[in-house]
Amino acid sequence: MNDKAFEPKIIAFCCHYCAYASADLAGSMRLQYPSGVRIIRTPCTGRLEVEYYMRAFENGADGVLVAGCLEGGCHFIEGNLFAKKRVNAIRDILQESGIEKERLRMVNISAAMATTLATVINEMVNTIKELGPNPIRKTNNGTDVEFWESIPPGKEFEILNSQQ
Ligand code: FES
Repeated sequence: MNDKAFEPKIIAFCCHYCAYASADLAGSMRLQYPSGVRIIRTPCTGRLEVEYYMRAFENGADGVLVAGCLEGGCHFIEGNLFAKKRVNAIRDILQESGIEKERLRMVNISAAMATTLATVINEMVNTIKELGPNPIRKTNNGTDVEFWESIPPGKEFEILNSQQ
């Protein structure tokens, strides 16, 4: 599919210590990425359980990006390595389920790599545009979904902090 009107909805789970700071810096640098991208701050990518990924896809995300610290730089030692394994396993499950694995991607960046983050986000948006909408998106009267709509545009919010 190559529908120019299609604006992918992408959830970007960003680690508080690196990617989230990088997203902040990207904003300060006025680096652009599409409005369909929602940044969600997490304490560490290692805290993202399988259900978070699945819920994102089930409830409307066309793509999910996981952005964690550089390997060797995770504040919880190996959280990003666990996340990498989990993401790879979920990509396989998605592919076997008929959902393109390219809809889920992980990247490792530092807080200073704002340009890289913006580039990765834009690459992902282009990839998802080519793939088209998430085939398992639940619809709400054929329009949109509650989970997605509950995320305010352009506003970051935190999850999991209470469990840290
Ligand atoms: Fe950043 Fe673990 S603290 S990925």
